[in-house]
Amino acid sequence: MKKTNLLLILTFCSTFLAIGQTKVPFIEDLLAKMTIEEKIGQLNLVTPGGGIATGSVVSSNVEEKIKAAKVGGMFGISGPKKLKIAQDFAVNDTRLKIPLFFGSDVIHGYKTTFPIPLATASSWDMDLIKKMAETAALEATADGINWNFSPMVDVARDPRWGRIAEGAGEDPYLGSAIAKAMVHGYQGNNLTAKNTMLATVKHFALYGAAEAGRDYNSVDMSRTKMFNQYLPPYKAGIDAGAASIMTSFNDVDGIPASGNKWLLTDLLRKKWGFKGFVVSDYTSVNEMIAHGLGDLQDVSALSLKAGLDMDMVGEGFLTTLKKSLDEGRVTEEEITNACRRILEAKYKLGLFDDPYKYIDAKRPKKDILTKKSKTLAREAAKRSFVLFKNHNNILPLSKTAKIALVGPLANNKNNMLGTWAPTGDPQLSIPILNGFKNVASKAKITYAKGANITDDTELAKKVNVFGTRVDIDKRSSEELLQEALDLAKTSDVVVAVVGEASEMSGEAASRTDISIPNSQKRLIQELVKTGKPVVLVLMSGRPLTIEEEFNLPVSILQVWHPGIEAGNAVADVIFGDYNPSGKLTATWPRNVGQIPIYHSIKNTGRPAPSPAFEKFKSNYLDVKNAPLLPFGYGLSYTSFKYSNINLSKKEIAQGEDVTVSVTVKNTGNFDGEEVVQLYLRDVVRSITPPMRQLKGFKKVFLKKGESKTVELVLTADDLKFYNSTLDFVAEPGDFEIFVGTNSNAQLKATLTLK
Ligand code: BGC
Repeated sequence: MKKTNLLLILTFCSTFLAIGQTKVPFIEDLLAKMTIEEKIGQLNLVTPGGGIATGSVVSSNVEEKIKAAKVGGMFGISGPKKLKIAQDFAVNDTRLKIPLFFGSDVIHGYKTTFPIPLATASSWDMDLIKKMAETAALEATADGINWNFSPMVDVARDPRWGRIAEGAGEDPYLGSAIAKAMVHGYQGNNLTAKNTMLATVKHFALYGAAEAGRDYNSVDMSRTKMFNQYLPPYKAGIDAGAASIMTSFNDVDGIPASGNKWLLTDLLRKKWGFKGFVVSDYTSVNEMIAHGLGDLQDVSALSLKAGLDMDMVGEGFLTTLKKSLDEGRVTEEEITNACRRILEAKYKLGLFDDPYKYIDAKRPKKDILTKKSKTLAREAAKRSFVLFKNHNNILPLSKTAKIALVGPLANNKNNMLGTWAPTGDPQLSIPILNGFKNVASKAKITYAKGANITDDTELAKKVNVFGTRVDIDKRSSEELLQEALDLAKTSDVVVAVVGEASEMSGEAASRTDISIPNSQKRLIQELVKTGKPVVLVLMSGRPLTIEEEFNLPVSILQVWHPGIEAGNAVADVIFGDYNPSGKLTATWPRNVGQIPIYHSIKNTGRPAPSPAFEKFKSNYLDVKNAPLLPFGYGLSYTSFKYSNINLSKKEIAQGEDVTVSVTVKNTGNFDGEEVVQLYLRDVVRSITPPMRQLKGFKKVFLKKGESKTVELVLTADDLKFYNSTLDFVAEPGDFEIFVGTNSNAQLKATLTLK
């Protein structure tokens, strides 16, 4: 290699490594040339509308503002043509020619829409999750996007909250593994590559704990709960190298996240060492006015000083920071620091070398909606389905059966993609009916709608804001029902595709009644009365309360909102081309009164007796404490038997790992996969321990009759927790280890930490 080349490479590498640690000379030179107005302009993130505008405003006069150097980035706009025009304004019409970056909410795939995140989490398959993120990045960057507002890593333990659909569920350990896989998938090893984009860990912090499950609501929790149960996935995303983080709408300790210095500076930057930039959520700075923290100038100054770098849509920074600087309420250094972080992100992407590197008219056709990405979408969907019940082992169905396929979601394109899929096209999705015909061409399949998703016209109106998700049929409910019953009576088996419309979950879609809508409940009951075997294919963006349906003699396959390949994937599982292997990542309650509900509960001083009720114990008069379906639950067409739990050491010293091994045997009649789960209980410690917490898992494939020894490593950190002084410690004593098929695992060993 020539000496000059080597020198160039070394200079490049050291400059690159220097980001966030020492200052990048190129950026410092640029900052030195910038006026204060230009710096403030970089802190402004706009959306011209066109995508989903979740706040009450969209940006105005966008072209004018870009040309006046008042915009740092845009979102809600895509495609090489449009983005080229916008980038031209920034590069040709501003004094310093600073390129824009382009953001988007690529939550579960770009144009190839994968199942909702709560579904893909249920696969417990980190390689698959990473591959989906890589594919999303490939497609989004092909369309000019270089900054993704994902992963959403909010721990959620309240299924009333609609955004539980967008995350990994209730558990910080699994949530952390998923956060890491997604960040790696979006960003790859090299952010200057054309097929990777910046990841944003959101919503920092605690958004999933909104009181009463009502979106945007207040949050108040102890620091120990925060550190042990809610913060780990954000930290895992940051440790994985996420370039940005988005604040949440809620308050944390009484101060909304976007203006919370403890959160954004003391914890995020000082304690965790985050080097990227912080963006607000949609108008969340302005919303602090409604929270009661002052006027726009007050809340904007508060946010900047707290450590917020970029203001999404609200323009509080753009319109008030200069005034605050003149009045001595913020410093130039604070503005420069925020601007530096944004410029560094653009630098990381290589935008200063080539502002048009993601703008390539040839790429969309080549990289978007390819056969490979659709194959992955089908794979992801079938691996995310959770089998709840297989009554009389009716599943899988024969490919020559006579099937009545009924239900409002059985021949429906509008609800397959699920919530937060603004870049996907519902019309490209495969309805269940088509999938059945594709996979079982010899089956005799008839279809009837059977019921509306809901007959509640008020609810339908609210759900249909982004297009028709609930279409109320012109025919009466009696007619719809009768048509389905007639088909049922002349078929071997009924498959009813029922559940929630996609926008019945997601942002601003909280529900207090999370049961299957009445219209469909009736359909299910009447179908069962025909005496034909009934399989419920259940769609939802959240855990539902289905105790009534669960107790009927039916089989239930939970398929969430399965994405673009919905029909094909559901058919793969129903007809046995794939044996279901998904496991719940959020507990399914019996009724709403049990919420919040999750597996890592603590014991009380008066534990509920089992099985009977007892006065003055921690139990309800009207319902058991146990959920309907525990965390980690999911059946297979085969069965697995666990035995021989062993520890590599029974006693360990601080800092040591231990390997837990267990024998798992496939004892049924199908090959299949099992998610082997490890739960830990710290028997005695200085703050009350959860009864059990997930601390390990492995997905293994076993041929029928096959046995495997599965090893799970419990690391020294897995024994640690944040104590009352928030130190991350492992305290000596006994730890009970449970391994099994869900969070009720019984196979037990005891480990002693000296
Ligand atoms: C959501 C964010 C999203 C943003 C931009 C907000 O309402 O909370 O998750 O990234 O809108 O679309």
